[in-house]
Amino acid sequence: MPEITVTEHLLSTQKSSSPHATGQFTALLHDLIVSAKIISRNVKQAGLVDILGGTGRINVQGENVQKLDEFANSVLIYRMRACGAVCAVGSEELAESLIFSSRGEEQPRGPYIIFFDPLDGSSNIDVNVSIGTIFSIYRRAEESCGDVSEQELLRPGLEQVAAGYFVYGPSTMLVYSTGQGVNGFTLDPSIGEFLLSHPNMHIPETGAIYSVNSAYYPHWDERTREAVDTFARPADREPHSLRYVGSLVADFHRTMLYGGIFLYPAEERKPKGKLRLMYEASPLAFLAEQAGGLATDGADRILEKRPQEIHERTPLFIGSARDVEKVMAIYRRRS
Ligand code: AHG
Ligand code: MN
Ligand code: MN
Repeated sequence: MPEITVTEHLLSTQKSSSPHATGQFTALLHDLIVSAKIISRNVKQAGLVDILGGTGRINVQGENVQKLDEFANSVLIYRMRACGAVCAVGSEELAESLIFSSRGEEQPRGPYIIFFDPLDGSSNIDVNVSIGTIFSIYRRAEESCGDVSEQELLRPGLEQVAAGYFVYGPSTMLVYSTGQGVNGFTLDPSIGEFLLSHPNMHIPETGAIYSVNSAYYPHWDERTREAVDTFARPADREPHSLRYVGSLVADFHRTMLYGGIFLYPAEERKPKGKLRLMYEASPLAFLAEQAGGLATDGADRILEKRPQEIHERTPLFIGSARDVEKVMAIYRRRS
């Protein structure tokens, strides 16, 4: 296959999808990619340099901040501020969103608002298991002016203009969509370029793998137990295989390629689940639907959920359309 870089691929698709592109999205994607290359470099050295372990700080989520969480967050914030195309940032590691004002700048700030989980799967860093970065991009309305308002940040996933993730595994990959399907690019370290390796990704209609932390079974409600048992103890077929990495990006990437379903349900101690809507569930739901899959909180389509605050959590069932539909049917029948 001829080597197509992610920038060549973006420019070729933009010719047809957005002929009036100003290059600002290209600049934004470029700076995201540079950030990921820097994060990937440090992830690959994690055992050799002093970047393992915790910072001793607790973030707004009430979780221990790992050194690599903080490093990834600072790299992304620096580059998103520098690139000019971005007027606001929301991050898992920032209690409040960051607004970049045009006041006092030669160039007015660009129209893009980005949310990210700078490092997903932090608990896996110290044991050399795949981790990732998840991003979600919105665009301000043309007529908006002045600094970005809180309302402009809290938008349903349907309004995303792009979403994707980097996965730092045996190879480093970028998987993203601008609404014209999903494409995967693999970093070739010898030339430092992300090359098209998984064109036009589609989630199989159904799969033979389910992915859930079964340790929480005692804390699930009856409908959730029935939903998981549909895959774990099916009446009419061989049981599915259980695969659970504990890094959402790794579990979702496998689901994108092999099919099946990833489940992070609500439970008595986490009534809205654990995963965050703006920078985990919504971007992955955007990709899942672009690839022919589905994503729900059990009752509603993830992409239609209007957030009340940027760190809002949501239950998440995502993956092959047929498998997610089974969960929705159970929730409908039992609710
Ligand atoms: P993060 O490291 O960004 O906080 O995300 C961790 C998330 C997600 O990656 C994974 O699916 C989930 O936590 C695992 O949670 P449990 O350990 O409760 O299974
Ligand atoms: Mn995460
Ligand atoms: Mn994280």
